[in-house]
Amino acid sequence: MALREILLWPDARLSTACAPVEEITDDIRTLVADMFETMYDAPGRGLAGPQVGAMLRLFVMDATWKEGEKSPLVAINPEIKALSDETCEMDEGCLSIPEITATVTRPVGITLSWTDLDGQRHTGEMIGAEARIAQHEYDHLDGLVHFDRLDAKTRARLEEIYA
Ligand code: NI
Repeated sequence: MALREILLWPDARLSTACAPVEEITDDIRTLVADMFETMYDAPGRGLAGPQVGAMLRLFVMDATWKEGEKSPLVAINPEIKALSDETCEMDEGCLSIPEITATVTRPVGITLSWTDLDGQRHTGEMIGAEARIAQHEYDHLDGLVHFDRLDAKTRARLEEIYA
């Protein structure tokens, strides 16, 4: 395993939509192992392919490890199948936009489908922090960052702080 360089916004790759993973090869397994190592080292709770320059629809996340219990999840070709009507505000950080916290409104819960490293397809419901991280990482696969979920005024203020 190896640490990968985390791209920083506004790198153009962070604004580019990713391609589906066609096949789970050794390269993909190595990429995922490296992404977990990079995420835990950063330290963060989620990391998406494009953040390390891999323009593929996959992300890794672990919603609980900072509280002492690991729950690593790799989501290959994820699809958000349903969003709850209920939304909430939550502060989000992003490893590609260090030291900036953005308060983003998103659905509280989601239904997510994804493929694991063995090629098995799963569908599960997520709520709270887990749903929040998955939605944030999923956005990266469509070339979106949390800034893109903010109103223009808030975004301008945060971009100024970031610059
Ligand atoms: Ni991010």
